[in-house]
Amino acid sequence: MADLDAVLAIELLSFSNPWHASTFQGEIQNDGISFPMVAFDRALKRIVGYIMVWKIQDDVQINNVAVHPDFRRSGVGEAMLRDVLDWARAAGGVFVSLEVRLSNASARALYEKLGFRLLAVRKNYYTKPDEDALVLGLDLKE
Ligand SMILES: CC(C)(COP(=O)(O)OP(=O)(O)OC[C@H]1O[C@@H](n2cnc3c(N)ncnc32)[C@H](O)[C@@H]1OP(=O)(O)O)[C@@H](O)C(=O)NCCC(=O)NCCS
Repeated sequence: MADLDAVLAIELLSFSNPWHASTFQGEIQNDGISFPMVAFDRALKRIVGYIMVWKIQDDVQINNVAVHPDFRRSGVGEAMLRDVLDWARAAGGVFVSLEVRLSNASARALYEKLGFRLLAVRKNYYTKPDEDALVLGLDLKE
């Protein structure tokens, strides 16, 4: 909970349709299913990114990930994703999925770099603006 203000600030800077505080609070309280993690810069003593993950038995979903605009392109997003994949593998996860906007070239490049593959397209899944979602997946056993 103590990290929520910093996470919300990054969320507002990152998305046209940001999650509300209550959504993050619900995730924090969803013990055993939801695993919120933050990237903390020790030198600056501040949160620079976060990732929200669900793990339900062997199925893992990445529901939200963002890096503060001032800290992008310095490896934070990739490090968070790699940590989550390592954690998920160690915890018995088998498959990871997520959704990404068709136009989100930076996120798509990141997921492609980590080996995610296209599973499906969800038509007009997003609003503000209306846009398709790509459903991407990664087999943790490969
Ligand atoms: C997507 C996001 C999390 C990436 O975080 P980041 O810390 O900037 O990414 P990294 O520096 O770790 O980059 C890792 C890889 O991602 C890709 N990438 C990241 N930003 C990129 C950009 N602007 N253009 C092209 N590729 C990019 C590259 O493949 C990069 O590897 P490289 O450095 O070897 O080229 C960040 O841009 C962000 O917060 N965006 C807004 C929120 C968002 O869109 N979240 C995803 C929702 S699905």
